[in-house]
Amino acid sequence: MQDLQNGGGKAWSGRFKEPVAELVQKYTASIFFDKRLAEFDIQGSLAHARMLCSCDILSNDDLESIEKGLQTILEEIREGKFEWSVELEDVHLNIEKRLTTLVGDAGKRLHTARSRNDQVATDIRLFLRHEIDGIDELIQALQKAILDLAEKHVDTVMPGFTHLQVAQPVSFGHHLMAYFEMLDRDRDRLKDCRRRLNRLPLGSAALAGTSYPIDRAYVAEMLGFEGVCENSLDAVSDRDFAMEFCAFSAILMTHLSRFSEELILWMNPGFGFIDIADRFCTGSSIMPQKKNPDVPELVRGKTGRVNGHLVALLTLMKSQPLAYNKDNQEDKEPLFDTIDTVTATLGIYAEMIPGIKVNKSAMREAAKKGYATATDLADYLVKKGLPFRDAHEAVARAVRLCDEKGCDIGAVSLPELRQFSQLIDEDVYKVLTLEGSLESRDHVGGTAPRQVKLAIERARKKLA
Ligand code: ARG
Repeated sequence: MQDLQNGGGKAWSGRFKEPVAELVQKYTASIFFDKRLAEFDIQGSLAHARMLCSCDILSNDDLESIEKGLQTILEEIREGKFEWSVELEDVHLNIEKRLTTLVGDAGKRLHTARSRNDQVATDIRLFLRHEIDGIDELIQALQKAILDLAEKHVDTVMPGFTHLQVAQPVSFGHHLMAYFEMLDRDRDRLKDCRRRLNRLPLGSAALAGTSYPIDRAYVAEMLGFEGVCENSLDAVSDRDFAMEFCAFSAILMTHLSRFSEELILWMNPGFGFIDIADRFCTGSSIMPQKKNPDVPELVRGKTGRVNGHLVALLTLMKSQPLAYNKDNQEDKEPLFDTIDTVTATLGIYAEMIPGIKVNKSAMREAAKKGYATATDLADYLVKKGLPFRDAHEAVARAVRLCDEKGCDIGAVSLPELRQFSQLIDEDVYKVLTLEGSLESRDHVGGTAPRQVKLAIERARKKLA
């Protein structure tokens, strides 16, 4: 209104006869959340300006002014003094406007050979790359906590489960190392995602490239990108790197959710396998005796929200024609929340693991209760020449007897055991013990304590 030549005095409103409605302004603005990209926006602008100058598109004086102005803006933002304005729509226009206020025409020249479309695509990649490096470190810290706990429990026997029924005895260290492996693959996925996103969109301009004699490789080099995006339409429009990151996150959270489910079960007095330190639990306002595993429960709960963000991004992209559409502005909140959730979850998990107290005797008793060595007895008979199916049948009958007597197989006398097969001798009791069962699974990937120790050694080498 203040400028009748320009419908609202915006960077783009020259062709508009009236200012944009206030409701629309609020609805279309992204400044509420994309100001989080500010530092990366400035990094990108600096590299762009330096390239323009080296290609003689921008004068040395202009470059100097832009550098100084952006430095001032960076400080203003860091000190919380920068005034963000909804009228200026997003982080890019807010910074550009401030730059122009500070340094005049040089600020207006910064946007030469650039569009907000390649600018925002660059900002998100720079931002996400930075976050990925932090997340990789957090995963490693958690892996280290798991390794330290596993190392203390190489020989600790617990029941291994299938169908949540006691199956075979395993080393608790071995069980924990399963999660190390999952996290190791998560790191690999993250690394892959980083490698693919590490390409420069700038130079694609709005969608078709630019007619200025720019040097994209130089910008890529300044910003630490491995190369440039090969296709301008693709560069400004696709957000597959964000989807890929969210897919990584959903899988990571799924792993942590499974771990959480186990911690919750193990802490239930019915299991009594572990206790989680008080500082990670909360009580009940009505039941004075309660100690609830809130942290693992919330991790399990937050997995739903991260999965949701992945679906949001997939859905956001699925019907968009090339190239950039405003829909893409909706990529940020799911991505930001995914990063925040994953970061907070990994941090708290790495702190919680060392505070886990293990009740070895409860684990041992549970392993003894469910005929966990029945398979070992069958294997014993097979090694003495009985076909596996017959051995299975003989042991099943022995288990039935134990059910009636209410005892473990190891507690049945030799004459009684021999009812089921004459092949059974005194040496059977070695395989019927929990330790014997564990030690016999002595190959790479098996639960023998010797193997678990070796697995932990190999795992340590994978961490930085
Ligand atoms: N705020 C926008 C986004 O996040 C920046 C790009 C806007 N481009 C445009 N042509 N309106 O996607």
